[in-house]
Amino acid sequence: MNAIALREATAEDLPRISELYRELRVDGPPPGLPPKAGRYRLRVAVDAQLSVVGYSYAEHDETSDIPVFLRHLVTAPEARGRGVARTLLEDAAGGRAIQLNTDREGSNGAFYEHLGFEEAGTSEALRVDFRDVDAMPVYACSTGLLSAERLAHFAAAFALPVARVTPSRAAQLPIGAWDDDGAPLGVALFDSAFPGCFPFRIARPAIATAFLREVERHAGEKHLSLMVEDDEATCGFLKAFGAESRIRLRRYWRPTV
Ligand SMILES: CC(C)(COP(=O)(O)OP(=O)(O)OC[C@H]1O[C@@H](n2cnc3c(N)ncnc32)[C@H](O)[C@@H]1OP(=O)(O)O)[C@@H](O)C(=O)NCCC(=O)NCCS
Repeated sequence: MNAIALREATAEDLPRISELYRELRVDGPPPGLPPKAGRYRLRVAVDAQLSVVGYSYAEHDETSDIPVFLRHLVTAPEARGRGVARTLLEDAAGGRAIQLNTDREGSNGAFYEHLGFEEAGTSEALRVDFRDVDAMPVYACSTGLLSAERLAHFAAAFALPVARVTPSRAAQLPIGAWDDDGAPLGVALFDSAFPGCFPFRIARPAIATAFLREVERHAGEKHLSLMVEDDEATCGFLKAFGAESRIRLRRYWRPTV
């Protein structure tokens, strides 16, 4: 096997990362360079010729029970089967507990199980047309952008690490829904470059109506993608009003090693 080295990605790596990103076959923009002191890390693997042969893109939140969420792990087709993905994954995890979403149909589950992961839940990516929201029943609640102080409270209410709803670039906005007493009813990180919400968590399906109206105020497009995790009721509700299922994913996790 050729020697593989890992390093932080630089601006010069972004075109190659975009190319590798297409291997994931998911909607949304490829990763950009994360801010230096932020919660995201974009790492590349380079071979002996200094060509980029893979990358990992992960969120880190040391205060969470599962401090690493692996957003992307890709290796170049010509570099597979040489331990590049394992090296990138162990670098991102750093021995800590880690989770990720991956394709339900393909063989990635076997890859992660081989590396000691267990299945922990399901996620479904839905595409919603804002015109379909008009027909949805309305559950009365307040909605709006969340300040950093309120965000921690909303993330905790949905058992989400705060990093998963914290913006890492200007295109991202944390959005919430709450009742008359201010109790959290929903939280999402909306990304106008996607455009979509990931994660997207609501306490009951009909809250989606007011929530989507709020998102529409910030969206430039007529549609958006939602990543709904472990919430068949919300998926069923949205699909009944015309949402299209784009992909079903499995969530995997591995404890501290
Ligand atoms: C899945 C993927 C990341 C694997 O990359 P890779 O560089 O070939 O993986 P590695 O060589 O590091 O393999 C590590 C170990 O996993 C095993 N493995 C690799 N792919 C596997 C699969 N599909 N099923 C089971 N085991 C697998 C290898 O045999 C190796 O085992 P060993 O270390 O015990 O010998 C790569 O195929 C890929 O980029 N696919 C497209 C993008 C994607 O789907 N990414 C993952 C979803 S986020």
